[in-house]
Amino acid sequence: TEPLRVALAGLGTVGAGVVRLLETNGELIARRAGRPIEVVAVSARDRSKDRGIDISGFDWVDDPAELARHPKADVIVELVGGSDGPALALARAALGAGKNFVTANKAMVAHHGLELARAAESAGVALKYEAAVAGGIPVIKGLREGAAANAIDSVYGILNGTCNFILSKMEAEGRDFDDILSEAQALGYAEADPSFDIDGIDAAHKLSILASLAFGAKPSFDDVVITGVRHVIAADIAEAASLGYRIRLLGIADASGGGLMQRVHPYLVPMDHPMAHVLSSTNAVVAEGNFVGRLFFQGAGAGDGPTASAVVADLIDIARGEFGPPYAMPVDSLAAMAPADTGER
Ligand code: HSE
Repeated sequence: TEPLRVALAGLGTVGAGVVRLLETNGELIARRAGRPIEVVAVSARDRSKDRGIDISGFDWVDDPAELARHPKADVIVELVGGSDGPALALARAALGAGKNFVTANKAMVAHHGLELARAAESAGVALKYEAAVAGGIPVIKGLREGAAANAIDSVYGILNGTCNFILSKMEAEGRDFDDILSEAQALGYAEADPSFDIDGIDAAHKLSILASLAFGAKPSFDDVVITGVRHVIAADIAEAASLGYRIRLLGIADASGGGLMQRVHPYLVPMDHPMAHVLSSTNAVVAEGNFVGRLFFQGAGAGDGPTASAVVADLIDIARGEFGPPYAMPVDSLAAMAPADTGER
């Protein structure tokens, strides 16, 4: 059987994780996918950097967009990041060339997902982005496939590991967040621009993707009402605790009132709610379906292993030929939902 041949743009933490995972679990993956999955080409800034992986067998290209034209690649994996720029150029080139496309790029999917989904549908190829939301937690597959038969009223969760890590540490150690942010950065979870984390933008990217899948709505990042954790101080956390609450940065999307409400901000979560017990950098997502009931997904939302796990799960779907429209339904059937009136916009 022919392998599924992969071209990989970006060999940072996650890219190296993908190579390592395909190597370590290669036989198991080949059996599950029905054929081997092989990296054939990569694009990364620094060829000589030691990543702890053997890259000698890969073709190297300088401009990631060139990978879209690589003659052997069946699928392009984008791990470059950024909503526009090289990542978007590569996505357009790959889908335009009729190549399957896998990405971990939440910012790009939040801003350009509709355009890219349209391109994928018209080319008859896969656009998959499991790793874009909540890292290793299979929440895209959970909503798009597992809960596909349900009407869903609301979806919410802890979608930013950096903020949850900071809030957890602030509570445990009574410190303010500035000095804790650098610890989160050292762990490799924070965005290149950490204001995306602490100002709630990263969580909002992920929420708009989840909302689209849950409600069959056109993604609308611009309608998310966002407040981050910058102004939360240790005293707020202590005060909340004395009243029986924990402060958590939640993203909440609700379509039960007709319009689509999407908001990200620090919430007081009662101690008897499972979200109050999601600690450190862990992510969690709840979706309420009308037949399945409450689904609670929890796991690692960042890091090389978990994120690579999600990327390779998408590759396995493609190797099996199991993919449909990138959203919960074909792009042209997605509803244009007006934002709910929150009184704040
Ligand atoms: N900066 C993100 C987080 C990484 O902290 O959750 C995963 O998207």
